[in-house]
Amino acid sequence: MKTPRTIVVGITGGIAAYKAVNIVRAFVLNGDSVHVVATPAALRFVGKPTLEAISRNPVHTDLYEGVAEVRHVAIGQGADLIVVAPATANSIAKLAAGLADDLLGNTILASTAPLVIAPAMHTEMWNNPATVANIAVLRSRGITIVGPGVGRLTGTDSGAGRMEEPDTIVAVALAVLDRATPAGEAAASAVPDLAGRRVLISAGGTREPLDPVRFLGNRSSGMQGVALAQAALARGARVTFVAANLEVPVPTSITTVLVGSALEMHEAMTRAAETAEVIIMAAAVADYRPRSVQVGKIKKEDVGDTLMLELVKNPDILADLAAERRPGQLIIGFAAETETDADRLLALGRAKITRKGCDFLVVNRVGKDAGFGTERNTVTVLDRRGVIVNEVSGSKMSVANCILDLIG
Ligand code: CTP
Repeated sequence: MKTPRTIVVGITGGIAAYKAVNIVRAFVLNGDSVHVVATPAALRFVGKPTLEAISRNPVHTDLYEGVAEVRHVAIGQGADLIVVAPATANSIAKLAAGLADDLLGNTILASTAPLVIAPAMHTEMWNNPATVANIAVLRSRGITIVGPGVGRLTGTDSGAGRMEEPDTIVAVALAVLDRATPAGEAAASAVPDLAGRRVLISAGGTREPLDPVRFLGNRSSGMQGVALAQAALARGARVTFVAANLEVPVPTSITTVLVGSALEMHEAMTRAAETAEVIIMAAAVADYRPRSVQVGKIKKEDVGDTLMLELVKNPDILADLAAERRPGQLIIGFAAETETDADRLLALGRAKITRKGCDFLVVNRVGKDAGFGTERNTVTVLDRRGVIVNEVSGSKMSVANCILDLIG
């Protein structure tokens, strides 16, 4: 059984506070011990009994309660991770200035735990030079900022400033926590080691159209690619995500280019690669597409009992990116193989990395029960010489972190 970690969830006074309930619940369901510190303003948006019932712990707000147990520092000292969601413009300004005029401010100042914040405010406030400067200060201190996303805001307006979706905040926060408290090991630093690095990730499976209603596709859900994007975000990277037909939600705060087919992905990746320092090609790309796409639906009456499809080869995106790489660009590919014999699997991987010309190849056995659409993954990472540099089996998030460790 895993040892529960202590997560402090700070909730500040914005309308997105009601979504913090889902964040608290997700941490509790993950087996962690959750303590909510809410500002008085937050409790105008969400009720204390709700937060206490969901967190299974008392909710603290007042700086002058629990003085005998020195609560204003005790909560922060006992935390393994602090997550502030939502973080209003005002609370971000207070954090940047190191103010401690409420219990949450004291808790954060008294803690050495990693801090993750999820800003939420109107677009004008997010773009205000004061907020921009405050966020830069927080980033420079190694604080992980998740979001904000772009979308509908309170009222009728929409734009940047919407709090990132709870699932993404939880995934990023747990990625930060896992790196700070790896099971059975001495605590590693959770400092965002990829701060500012430009990482381009492709994910999902391409669909090659046959006619207006049909396509040739594959079973990739995009889960490993989304885990890579979340882990990269948690480690401070500037992520661009090229997504093909994902079955899982994409974090709204990540710059995402949606594509359908291999040709669209080729174009999007080639363009995005111009500014990327690291490229991770996790997408399952169709090797072939129908030579022609029918304008109208293919009708049985017109075809008869047998339908012959003529397919033409798609460009090899990874090989093209590797052939045209910018100086210093690091390129990581995946190999999806159904081979069950370990030696033959490795031989396929070695041949593939030579063919593709990338720096590392993440060899992934796939099939109905492995790789695609499952929560866990087992991979072997090869370098250019075909030498095994890592073998990992675990959650897609832990596999993602091992892949990101390849970035020097
Ligand atoms: N890939 C690509 N463009 C393609 C096919 C694959 O960029 N047209 C990339 C994938 O994103 C992956 C790597 O190449 O990073 C290996 O993909 P995989 O499907 O394992 O291999 P293929 O090159 O398609 O070869 P094969 O299907 O013969 O194993």
